[in-house]
Amino acid sequence: MTKPQDLADQLSDVAGAAFAALGIDTTAGAMRRSDRPDLADFQCNGAMASAKKLGKNPREIASAVVDALKASPLVTASEVAGPGFINVRLTNAALAARAEQIASDPRSGARSVETPRRVVIDFGGWNVAKEMHIGHLRSTVIGDSLQRLFRFMGDAVTSDVHLGDWGLQMGQLINEVKLEQPNLPYFDASFTGPYPEQSPVSMDDLGRLYPVASSKSKTDEARRDEDRKATQELQSGRPGYRALWQHFCNVTRVGLERECISLGVRFDLWKGESHAEPFVPALVEDLKARGIAELDAGAWIIRVARETDKKEMPPIILVNRDGAIGYHGSDLGTIVDRKQGIDPQLTLYVVDQRQALHFEQVFRASDRAGLMPESTLEHVGFGTVNGPDGKPYKTRDGGTLKLQAFINQADEVAMARMKEAELGADVSEAEQQDIAHKVAVAAVKFSDLSNVRTTNYIFDLDRFISFEGKTGPYLLYAAVRIKSLARRADAEGVKAGPITIELDAERALVLALDGFNEALRGAYDKRMPHILCDHTYTLAQAFSAFYAAAPILVESDAAKKASRFSLAMATLKQLELALGLIGIETPERM
Ligand code: ARG
Repeated sequence: MTKPQDLADQLSDVAGAAFAALGIDTTAGAMRRSDRPDLADFQCNGAMASAKKLGKNPREIASAVVDALKASPLVTASEVAGPGFINVRLTNAALAARAEQIASDPRSGARSVETPRRVVIDFGGWNVAKEMHIGHLRSTVIGDSLQRLFRFMGDAVTSDVHLGDWGLQMGQLINEVKLEQPNLPYFDASFTGPYPEQSPVSMDDLGRLYPVASSKSKTDEARRDEDRKATQELQSGRPGYRALWQHFCNVTRVGLERECISLGVRFDLWKGESHAEPFVPALVEDLKARGIAELDAGAWIIRVARETDKKEMPPIILVNRDGAIGYHGSDLGTIVDRKQGIDPQLTLYVVDQRQALHFEQVFRASDRAGLMPESTLEHVGFGTVNGPDGKPYKTRDGGTLKLQAFINQADEVAMARMKEAELGADVSEAEQQDIAHKVAVAAVKFSDLSNVRTTNYIFDLDRFISFEGKTGPYLLYAAVRIKSLARRADAEGVKAGPITIELDAERALVLALDGFNEALRGAYDKRMPHILCDHTYTLAQAFSAFYAAAPILVESDAAKKASRFSLAMATLKQLELALGLIGIETPERM
């Protein structure tokens, strides 16, 4: 079975063959969407470059290709423009055929990759107890979109939340709990267990204790030494500390899982930095033996600087002078763990751009150590989220981000907006709340994902939760409108029928639908979900123009009605699919 091709590919085949007939590589025939939709649907710029190479006249080459294009049943008009641009307009029949393909394809006209890979996506990266900042929410939203996208493209994806559960903050917390509840058995070195099953602290307690512990650790040197000692003891397996730490991890995980469900985010693995620990001793031995790890002031390091470096590239610290594993060591150990368990061909780390140096060091060390080649490890960085004052975003109370409180606040704003817009007035209170939550999640995710990943953006809940403009709620509303049209059509016995294309607005809608494949491919190759967001917005706008120009239920010609209804259903399917890939779920009504 041949795979359905998008229109650009179909045209590229025709143009490529024409170039080949002139002795030019078929790649010169690559067609793309026209920069001037008023003049053409697609364009090809290959004549100029190849003419230069061959020392020929570009317009002559272009005109030979135009002749071949004109002979194709896909093309209604083609011409040479300017120095040798090739412009093409498609026939209504070609557009109708492509629309039929998209309408009947569960993938809505999108191809999958030829060679699927095993891909690990490391995102979320919250820390046990440590304050959560909006960067973690960003990582979660972007990472989730990428896992959905990569899976849809056919890759075998394993997502891992990679909790920060192993650093100095653990020793700090252990000591802080000890100050507050000194009589717990976890601190009694002679206690032989079993330890209580019930956690002595809740997630809220951890959130309260950590800032106190952390500030003491910063200002009081003796306390800091204690914290380092506790961290080292925890890591080397002191039973009471391990048991207490396990409680910290459990209560955090229960809370985070609840929030993930609320955001519609799923992880395959709930591993953390601590899972790397068992892999590190053998790794250190091996790297020592091979002369890759070196002892430096009591710490085991790996040098990663290269002669060609323009910036300073400090070594990574595999094991620090206390014998504890820090951020570098846990990331390297994790690479060993993943290599043994999953053997990924690609690993994406969806983490704040400000950690770029860290990842460069780790990737180089992995390469030097012969673990995973640098080329398979990729830092998918992102910019900072700022408040309206241009400074890093703070929650309403000026404090750190409590994810649950943040989601509740977004739900409230969404509900208020729906009431203002008189949406959801005729459904039950429970359904209204469910819709408001979907609107809130759509607003938060879309506003984040529609920004170019690497740029900073200003967080403004009021602007994001608007039913107008390029927002998540607007797109939900667009999908819901088509769903309501489908219900009315169903009630009136309207059925989908063969697609015919006549109006400009119909042509534009099919061209928009056809663009899905390219948008997916771009978002996938560049790890840039905003390309998919742009597509959903373009599609929703094209639909809205189509629906204004080509009303459906009032159309008296039954064949036209059935054709337009097919187009509407194809749009709905693709819109929901594309929104699903950015993690947005559409309600049935609003
Ligand atoms: N927990 C880290 C932080 O809060 C992010 C972890 C990212 N993933 C990784 N493999 N290093 O900064």
